[in-house]
Amino acid sequence: MALDMVLPAIILLGIVVAAMAYFIRRASALVRELERANRSKSSFLASMSHEVRTPLNAILGFSELMSLELYGKVEGEKNKEYLRLIQDSGGHLLAIINDILDISKLEAGKFNIYAEKIQPCQIVDTCVRTIEASAKDRSITITQHCHGGTIFSDERVMRQILINILSNAIKFTNPGGAVHIIGEQLKGQYQILISDNGVGMSAEEIDVAFSTFGQVANELTKKHRGTGLGLPLVKRFITLLDGSVGISSNPGKGTSVTLSFPLKTTAKNL
Ligand SMILES: Nc1ncnc2c1ncn2[C@@H]1O[C@H](COP(=O)(O)OP(=O)(O)OP(=O)(O)O)[C@@H](O)[C@H]1O
Ligand SMILES: [Mg+2]
Repeated sequence: MALDMVLPAIILLGIVVAAMAYFIRRASALVRELERANRSKSSFLASMSHEVRTPLNAILGFSELMSLELYGKVEGEKNKEYLRLIQDSGGHLLAIINDILDISKLEAGKFNIYAEKIQPCQIVDTCVRTIEASAKDRSITITQHCHGGTIFSDERVMRQILINILSNAIKFTNPGGAVHIIGEQLKGQYQILISDNGVGMSAEEIDVAFSTFGQVANELTKKHRGTGLGLPLVKRFITLLDGSVGISSNPGKGTSVTLSFPLKTTAKNL
């Protein structure tokens, strides 16, 4: 290189290095700012959910007391109906708040996972009992074939995963439809397959369904209440349990969800 080229080359290099250093500094400041904003969002959601839960529990508790008529009769069919609506809407609101609280805890990395000895078949059975009434209301039959012994996992989290998937299977299946559950130990994992013959989804719709607040427009989504947090929560929960979730679905034919749980989940005390 000619000598008279060296100086401009050094100056250019200096400018490039200075510009890069400036951009790296700006980018890391921006990342720090975003992390701070995300942490404030999560802590805002957590405290907001907590603040709302307290009065909501009072509304639920007192309306329940009123419906038990311990302190006097509730007169008139309309009053009884309104009391039922208060309880129903309060219960729904509580479920949404709990979901938001879970999402914000998961995003803040503050969700503890316990690993205890559990019997998956027993958990499947309890979950089926929980949603049996809504299935009956919609004339949907549920069959379950569950085999296998014990695994080490977090019972509460596993139950919530199952309830979310089962309630979807019932919500998005037309009256007269069927939901099948198969649970078995397979390839060193415990697999639970939940299939329905409901409205189904296309591949693009499955992506939407797994996004936070994502809901697919179909004739049944309009009829049912929902927030679009059920599947994103399932995805995050099962990942925390060191397991996985897979969905195969066909529009108009139905959906099959495969939940794979490790035989031994690692406890996470965050
Ligand atoms: N078994 C299924 N069959 C057809 N569509 C489904 C099924 N499960 C989920 N979906 C679609 O995926 C969307 C997202 O499901 P997700 O459970 O996250 O939300 P949601 O059930 O609408 O509300 P939430 O669970 O918060 O009450 C649903 O709105 C529905 O459109
Ligand atoms: Mg759901």
